[in-house]
Amino acid sequence: MTLLDYVAEQQQFIDRTLERLIPGEQQPPEIIHRAMRYSLFAGGKRIRPILCLAAASAVSDTAPGAEVAACALECVHTYSLIHDDLPALDNDDLRRGRPTCHKQFGEAIAILAGDALLTVAFQMLSEMPGADGDRKVRLIRELSTAAGTVGGMIGGQVADLEGERQEPTAELLERIHRAKTGALLRASVRMGAICAGANEAQLDALTCYGEHIGLAFQIVDDILDVEQSSEALGKTAGKDAQQHKITFPVVYGLEESHRMAKEECEAARRALEPFGERARRLWEIAGLIVERTK
Ligand code: IPE
Ligand code: IPE
Ligand code: MG
Ligand code: MG
Ligand code: MG
Repeated sequence: MTLLDYVAEQQQFIDRTLERLIPGEQQPPEIIHRAMRYSLFAGGKRIRPILCLAAASAVSDTAPGAEVAACALECVHTYSLIHDDLPALDNDDLRRGRPTCHKQFGEAIAILAGDALLTVAFQMLSEMPGADGDRKVRLIRELSTAAGTVGGMIGGQVADLEGERQEPTAELLERIHRAKTGALLRASVRMGAICAGANEAQLDALTCYGEHIGLAFQIVDDILDVEQSSEALGKTAGKDAQQHKITFPVVYGLEESHRMAKEECEAARRALEPFGERARRLWEIAGLIVERTK
């Protein structure tokens, strides 16, 4: 199967699983379930759940509950996007090719839809079939830490906002990116590996892979903000410069940013060596992250 067919198949599998795990639009209070589903089923790339499933496959043919962990990751990610777009944060009107959640449902419901997606992620993990209590606690710890304030997504978002009024330095840039985006990508790979029963050495190798693709992912996000159109991205292009964000193109220039993204991709691939052919999809996904156009 080609990589693109594999990705499309995984996206459909994740969508079907999310469909089953998220309350229906008819479930009262209808408005919150409509808002959650509006943002969740808007055509995101599903890169975090796909990484979770591919990491699980690199370790073992059986990984009970990996699809639930994958969906929990996508819920936390979508919550972070809804809140990232709010007027108090990046103040964006367009996301995943549609009006942002707060444009469609108003700010109050958008804030609550984000809260709800965050909450339901941990409910999913706690109710996950096929995993014992210890494994569930490990997964909950991974996801909550990656989404949290110390080196995690929220910490990174705070640094990103404060960065709008700070001198852009290479050190601050890397700290922001590793936290706001890298932490959740790293956790995606680790959670898949945990579901598959990875040993310490396997988990370390996949963590290394996750850290490199995590950084590569946000370098490319910064590049695309400069090089692509809003239509191509499905979100507002050129926002970072407008809002004085600390980005890779600002600190290093575009050409060097491209080179650094490739270098991260290669470093990520090197970490996969112990897995051989089992890690083929992860190897390919690293390339996809760097070569993507949206
Ligand atoms: C965008 O993430 C925000 C970042 C963390 C860079 P994605 O590029 O994965 O967005 P979707 O999920 O495909 O919409
Ligand atoms: C957002 O980074 C990272 C999140 C934690 C959501 P950006 O602000 O660069 O994401 P986009 O470009 O709006 O998707
Ligand atoms: Mg932002
Ligand atoms: Mg943003
Ligand atoms: Mg961006």
